[in-house]
Amino acid sequence: MSMGLAYTYESLGLEDTKRLAGELAARLTPGSLVALDGDLGAGKTAFSKEIAACMGVKETVNSPTFTIIKEYPGSKMPLYHMDVYRITESEAGELGLDEYFYGEGVTLVEWASLIESLLPDERLSIFIEYTGPESRTFHLNAFGEPYASWCRAMTENGVLR
Ligand SMILES: Nc1ncnc2c1ncn2[C@@H]1O[C@H](COP(=O)(O)OP(=O)(O)OP(=O)(O)O)[C@@H](O)[C@H]1O
Ligand SMILES: [Mg+2]
Repeated sequence: MSMGLAYTYESLGLEDTKRLAGELAARLTPGSLVALDGDLGAGKTAFSKEIAACMGVKETVNSPTFTIIKEYPGSKMPLYHMDVYRITESEAGELGLDEYFYGEGVTLVEWASLIESLLPDERLSIFIEYTGPESRTFHLNAFGEPYASWCRAMTENGVLR
């Protein structure tokens, strides 16, 4: 994968993870794509839940184990939450994911690197690194606009470094 512009965020607990989700959610628009990676239990779903809450999603967001894709209505636009851990890239290719990526809502993909070739080039990739029971380092890579601008703004306001 080519490198986008790289930034980091240190989370010392769920409250910090919630803060980053809030900063990001405030910027999301229809067609936004956030590609999440990180080991089992890193916090991809925990982060997705916080983004969903900020988007006004009322339903409980959990790992869509058997559904792969779940759509949640939000206050301004839908959230498409995907977890592609259990399918192959070619199976994912049959799902018509572009309908979501270029749709009316925001897409969050857990285990996004597994379907790298199917992802639009422009996206915000976030790798969540487990650094301790309550702490995580979020590694953000902005590929294209508007993601690069979001990250610059979040660096200027002291959220990212
Ligand atoms: N700072 C933190 N940020 C995010 N999650 C945290 C943090 N500290 C502890 N946690 C906990 O870590 C766990 C992360 O689990 P989660 O299901 O979100 O991981 P995941 O990356 O989605 O795993 P999987 O690959 O199995 O889907 C949750 O229980 C969450 O409460
Ligand atoms: Mg998960």
